[in-house]
Amino acid sequence: MQDNYLVTNNNLRNIRLKINGRTFEVTVAPHWTLYQVLKDQLGFTSIKDMCLGHGACGSCTVILDGRPVLSCLTLAVDCDGKTIETVEGIDPKHPVIETFIKHHAFQCGYCTPGFVMTAKALLDRKKNPTIEEIIEALSGNICRCGAYQLILNAVIEATERLAKGNR
Ligand code: FES
Ligand code: FES
Repeated sequence: MQDNYLVTNNNLRNIRLKINGRTFEVTVAPHWTLYQVLKDQLGFTSIKDMCLGHGACGSCTVILDGRPVLSCLTLAVDCDGKTIETVEGIDPKHPVIETFIKHHAFQCGYCTPGFVMTAKALLDRKKNPTIEEIIEALSGNICRCGAYQLILNAVIEATERLAKGNR
């Protein structure tokens, strides 16, 4: 994303982020978003920006202290000391990963990391959500390819597997 603001040594801040179990210390300008720091500075390339940082697509979603957030609308300085999860940190055998693959819940795949993180955040905090609750949780995520039914099928199966204790 483009940075049009003046960055000087006077306005840089040092912050500490715990990302996927590892601690990172980074120097950021006060207006940099979490998206910029995670992707451009630290190289977590799973995070996407389908709407170019307008907060409209959900493809930049990460989990921040257990809650899904739009990293393009979250200031990095506000995340000092917090815990972040990205797709890179999810166990490949986690049901939400396995069911997305099983149901081919993507076409181009650009929206997939955001959907996966949103779904994981829901399933982490709610053991057996209803289909309506799943649809509501995913409602902020856009799929330009229209793979919504396949995505929903994947999350429903992941929910069922987790409810049966199958991780
Ligand atoms: S890039 Fe953050 S919501 Fe689209
Ligand atoms: S699979 Fe292409 S945007 Fe969702």
